[in-house]
Amino acid sequence: MTHPSVYPVTPEALQRTWLDNDAYLAMYQQSVEDPDGFWREHGQRLQWMRPYTQVRDTSFTLGNVHAHWFADGVLNASVNCLDRHLPEHANQVAYFWEGDSPDVQRTMTYRQLYEEVCRLANGMRQLGVGKGDRVTIYLPMIPEAAVAMLACARIGAVHSVVFAGFSPDALGSRIEDCGSKLVITADQGLRGARTTPLKDNTDLALGHLGKANPVEHVIVVKHVGQNIDEHAGRDIWYHDLLASQPGDCEPEPMNAEDPLFILYTSGSTGKPKGVLHTTGGYMVWAAMTHQYVFDYHPGDVYWCSADVGWVTGHSYIVYGPLANAATSVMFEGIPTYPSIKRIAQIIDKYRVNILYTAPTAIRALMAHGTAAVDGMDLSSLKVLGSVGEPINPEAWNWYHEQVGKSRCPIVDTWWQTETGGILITPLPGATALKPGSATRPFFSVRPAIVDNEGKMLDGACEGNLVLLGSWPGQMRTLFGDHERFEQTYFSTYPGMYFTGDGARRDEDGYYWLTGRVDDVLNVSGHRLGTAEIESCLVAHEAIAEAAVVGYPHDIKGQGIYVFVAPRVGVEPSEELTKAVREWVRRDISAIATPDLIQWTPGLPKTRSGKIMRRILRKIAANEHDSLGDITTLADPSVVEHLIEHRLNA
Ligand code: WT7
Repeated sequence: MTHPSVYPVTPEALQRTWLDNDAYLAMYQQSVEDPDGFWREHGQRLQWMRPYTQVRDTSFTLGNVHAHWFADGVLNASVNCLDRHLPEHANQVAYFWEGDSPDVQRTMTYRQLYEEVCRLANGMRQLGVGKGDRVTIYLPMIPEAAVAMLACARIGAVHSVVFAGFSPDALGSRIEDCGSKLVITADQGLRGARTTPLKDNTDLALGHLGKANPVEHVIVVKHVGQNIDEHAGRDIWYHDLLASQPGDCEPEPMNAEDPLFILYTSGSTGKPKGVLHTTGGYMVWAAMTHQYVFDYHPGDVYWCSADVGWVTGHSYIVYGPLANAATSVMFEGIPTYPSIKRIAQIIDKYRVNILYTAPTAIRALMAHGTAAVDGMDLSSLKVLGSVGEPINPEAWNWYHEQVGKSRCPIVDTWWQTETGGILITPLPGATALKPGSATRPFFSVRPAIVDNEGKMLDGACEGNLVLLGSWPGQMRTLFGDHERFEQTYFSTYPGMYFTGDGARRDEDGYYWLTGRVDDVLNVSGHRLGTAEIESCLVAHEAIAEAAVVGYPHDIKGQGIYVFVAPRVGVEPSEELTKAVREWVRRDISAIATPDLIQWTPGLPKTRSGKIMRRILRKIAANEHDSLGDITTLADPSVVEHLIEHRLNA
């Protein structure tokens, strides 16, 4: 079956939209020609305790990179998400929470959410946590995760959410890096009927830190009901702490540029980076993009299936939707449990109007033909979203036809942890869609494409994606390491923010993201640094050297291909391969588990000793006809051996 290459805006989408194409074009133009005027106006969508008079003071010049938005304004993020909705929306549902099991659910209205946030905020203050203190949140997808984030925001504490799939060591290093006083966790997590021992992991993480452990208290949500090892004086049950607290709590007045959260993400080198976002600009961005990109209207039921442990969950499960007084679905489980129909069942159960999910989830459903949607209604859907990795046209078409019944626009949203919110995206009532393209920039975003020398390319072209100026939601720094922040993002192409992504721009000015151009992998929409996995591998006693590359994977987008050289005297075996796989899973997380492990006597290196990943990527992708120049290798014969013993997925 052939599919159109362009899908015009549908009459239904046009009818309901906030913005049609003319409105988008006019607003975009104003946003780049007069950013001060534009944001002076749109910053007012928030409730400010003290209005800003300054709008923008930003620079991308190396040595002086900074972004200050609404700098003299004062506000509180939790007030914007909760208090200001109480007069009109107190009894409106903020979250329909759907448990891992289809029989388990809860609803939380705006009033209930407000009261619970206030109780936890009061409890945290009582434990001595206040403005500027860091709090690590290590929770599964339960309402308490949103409560914990908002409670931090209420008292001015800076949250660092760590995805509940991360190992004790990964948790520990993130706690240590930002010096958290407090950890909020649960007894266990539950996904696909499998439990994760979150409290045990926390104990292990803190134990390993020993003297470097900055944590004074651990708040534990009783979720699954498992017994925990209680450390007297340190551990407190969440329900015990909240029981005696009043349901109102004075919000901390925060400067617009005071930190709201830190979120760790992987880079091409070194340990994970603590991306820091501040309060005013981030909140404006999260709220405004949520409204326009998903065309959210009062009364809509919105479901973002991401995890709060990632930035998508921060901006589009918590801050954006709540700032817009939206009703959201929050789902604890996985798309395939108890059956492949689970996503469709949830859509029908809550009459979901807007679904925001990842290509990897769509491909997982697609692998079962139409079983995931057969016999399901899905007529409530109006807008579909995609995020996390390029969506291949096959998956796009399946999503469009099978889930959206060819009625619903798909917004393919490109952004990053660093950008705070969506930057390149269609708008449902404004943008003609091309499957596989994230289309056009959101307001004030100025993408450009440069070649490897940093020369800006014109018209239709392909190269490296950079951004030419600031937008309110951008990251401000890396926690505790402004130097690394400037080096990582602003030194490759001086004066520009380098995204790490490759992109093509077509004759209509649409952007097509082509994947990372640095040593970062995107596995099922999760970002992993090859350096991180390599340093874990070489810590194994059997391994002398390791190189990690991505290769095309039908469902995950990218799979993890590992080349390892054993230490002298070590004989590779199937058991050893299994043990290495388990080693990585334990040390980092299940997401980082290698798909293929190839043992090799050596790795291809330049004469100066640099591993030539370019060659390894080609071998892993089975493109060894186009290896390119290998004459600079110290020992070109390594390549033949690698090709001969290449593993097939
Ligand atoms: C990287 C950022 C954005 C929140 C989730 C991931 C890739 C993200 C798209 C898209 C093509 C995409 C990029 C980006 N990416 N969305 N729609 N099309 N690629 O956040 O973990 O910070 O990863 O995800 O490579 O750089 P993240």
